[in-house]
Amino acid sequence: MTSCSAPGKVILFGEHAVVFGEQALATAINKRLLVTGRPSSEFTFNGRPLSNEGKPYIGTCLDLIWKGGPLAIVTESELPSAAGMGSSAAVSVATLGLLTQMQGGFSREMIARKGFEVELKVQERASPIDTTTACHGSAVFVTKKKESDFLWLIEKDEKQWFLHSRDIPKMKIVVGDTGIKASTGPLVDKVKDYVRTSERAKGMVKEIGRITLDGLDAIKNEDFSKVGELMKRNHDLLNGLGVGHELLDRFVEAVQPLSYGAKLTGAGGGGSMIALTDHPTEVASLIEEQGGKAYIVETEREGVRIDG
Ligand code: MEV
Repeated sequence: MTSCSAPGKVILFGEHAVVFGEQALATAINKRLLVTGRPSSEFTFNGRPLSNEGKPYIGTCLDLIWKGGPLAIVTESELPSAAGMGSSAAVSVATLGLLTQMQGGFSREMIARKGFEVELKVQERASPIDTTTACHGSAVFVTKKKESDFLWLIEKDEKQWFLHSRDIPKMKIVVGDTGIKASTGPLVDKVKDYVRTSERAKGMVKEIGRITLDGLDAIKNEDFSKVGELMKRNHDLLNGLGVGHELLDRFVEAVQPLSYGAKLTGAGGGGSMIALTDHPTEVASLIEEQGGKAYIVETEREGVRIDG
């Protein structure tokens, strides 16, 4: 039996814009997803025959790299699915980690590259930020050119993502899950159609890229008031791109008095928001009073790892 786990993530700045090659910043969080595998007489997932319906990520990982016989695969997750906390990237990365460990050749860079391929196959459109963050841990900064602490370059069609590791201060973040499951692929497509036909949308994507750069500086300087202002602006721009949701706005508004700032995180359309705060318990209560489910999380350094 072999086990491998990967952390969830939250995007601090730049979701959606990163799909178009703009800058983005994500951090791994201290909630993980564990995948266990052992040889079996047939492929199973959590005790049932494995099918690609419903759980396409695991089947796609197997199709992509597995050369051995049938496996019984079991997952245990602290991450809600389709809630903007990176559960699909964590499941892909942990499964790829498990499979590469079982057949020899565990390599973070390879897992990050294959993880991106899995997300692309399942979602059709994606950037590599979620999978690289689940793989590497810490904070991951995506830019258009190579900078210090460079991890790897991932390319697709004419797009290039230069992925970097960033040391950021330990931060407590409250994630507010609306409970509304929203798939990433259709939301990414919606933004893509808007950007193709609107100069205003193109401008918003570029502004999100600039906000990410300022946001990273403000985080490094521990100027959390500035970080909060930028989060709010990023949230408004994501609403402008059409991926907001009225519940997310309600949560963002409700936590404002006790937070530096708050914004939608991940694909949107429901899913989750994040708040940066020194009062996580109170902020979690404010979110729950509005009908959300709150998770208090911390930034996490450890990426994909073999657990046994
Ligand atoms: C989803 O967590 C982030 C998006 O930018 C999609 C992606 O980057 O693959 C919406």
